[in-house]
Amino acid sequence: LEVGPDLPSSAAIDRWLGEPIKAALLPTSLFLTNKKGFPVLSRAHQRLLGRLLKLEVQVVLSGAPRHGGKPLGSYLQYLEHLGQHRPPPSAYDLFARGYEDYLQSPLQPLMDNLESQTYEVFEKDPIKYSQYQQAIYRCLLDRVPEEEKDTNVQVVMVLGAGRGPLVSAALRASRQAGRPIRIYAVEKNPNAVVTLQSWQYEEWGAQVTVVAQDMRGWSPPEGADLVVSELLGSFGDNELSPECLDGAQHCLKAGGVSIPCSYSSFLAPISSSKLYTEVRGCRERDRDPEAQFEMPYVVRLHNYHQLAAPQPCFTFQHPNPEAANDNSRYRLLAFRVQVDSVLHGFAGYFETTLYGDITLSIRPETHSPGMFSWFPIFFPLKQPLPVKAGEEVTVAFWRCSTPKKVWYEWAVTAPVPSALHNPTGRSYTIGL
Ligand SMILES: C[S@@+](CC[C@H](N)C(=O)[O-])C[C@H]1O[C@@H](n2cnc3c(N)ncnc32)[C@H](O)[C@@H]1O
Repeated sequence: LEVGPDLPSSAAIDRWLGEPIKAALLPTSLFLTNKKGFPVLSRAHQRLLGRLLKLEVQVVLSGAPRHGGKPLGSYLQYLEHLGQHRPPPSAYDLFARGYEDYLQSPLQPLMDNLESQTYEVFEKDPIKYSQYQQAIYRCLLDRVPEEEKDTNVQVVMVLGAGRGPLVSAALRASRQAGRPIRIYAVEKNPNAVVTLQSWQYEEWGAQVTVVAQDMRGWSPPEGADLVVSELLGSFGDNELSPECLDGAQHCLKAGGVSIPCSYSSFLAPISSSKLYTEVRGCRERDRDPEAQFEMPYVVRLHNYHQLAAPQPCFTFQHPNPEAANDNSRYRLLAFRVQVDSVLHGFAGYFETTLYGDITLSIRPETHSPGMFSWFPIFFPLKQPLPVKAGEEVTVAFWRCSTPKKVWYEWAVTAPVPSALHNPTGRSYTIGL
């Protein structure tokens, strides 16, 4: 990218930053002279350079020195100074370092048993568990009036307890609220159950009962006042929280509460040659040559351009108000794009309401500060699709299911139709 003296609109610059820029050429003629006669860049050029450096773009200085006899070295010194005095990375950026634009297959914690290290990474999140604790605390206060606080023991079921962080959060919430609870920690992964049992024996005692079962098939000895779970993927429902919690709804007393009580996925059209190339590279032998475009990827989006703001896609509520428990969904979304660009796919996010106004979000506009448990998800398109400023991109998304599996299908319908991606779940499904 050769940077000129006149920068275009910020929308156009945003679009540049979705391109796979390797190097930025800065001609010496771009520089202004400061009071002391040294070469400096305008504020707008400094901002652009900062964003390019974030993408690890190489900077190439070109042309002859032309500022009051100062040598080329003074230009370099100035650029180094700008590079060193960038704002420090956020905790999230530090955590995500090395994962930028790195495609990962979404976890399937229902079909597969997670490894201990995976739980360990979740458990380091500084925000998630304190939000859960706060949600449980508020719920206990709402359910148990002051005059009943010594007699009313609330039954809490932690569904999908993993190695126990939500059990600990519930115990802390109970102490904080001064409301006694009895906990059932339900977990189907035998490896995690071992950890739960040792916590139970060494720390929690009789207040906690560990249940080594799939929540959908468990017959509890009593009903729950409160079920607490965290079965959410980057796209909200993609780890099959709706099916698991519906399958466990019989555990909840009438009038009982689920934390979370709802969650929604969000989608935004994006341009990213980088991600398109990465997906294309996931081609595998013995598989349809385009199968890699018919599955979503969890990825720390980095070298991309969002063409329009995210919009809500699928929403689920718990307890499920629909007796039929039909979790298939269809949604058509329309996005107005601002600049000429090329559509490569859709970024996916989620938001969840745990209880009352206590939420968790990975939607950029409302992202829970400092929470790093989830990266976004990316739904690719097989064919990049040129789009013009002012045009509307419409996309259809389906959540489909059989008794054995769940999958998504998607297709762009305007400005020109794309192929239908993943029909009948031929390339990607999530096992029930
Ligand atoms: C995303 S992890 C969360 C674990 C833990 N609550 C935490 O926050 O670290 C989801 C957990 O739910 C368990 N799980 C998923 N589906 C389940 C089911 N149907 N019955 C019981 N456990 C389930 C998984 O094995 C996994 O341990």
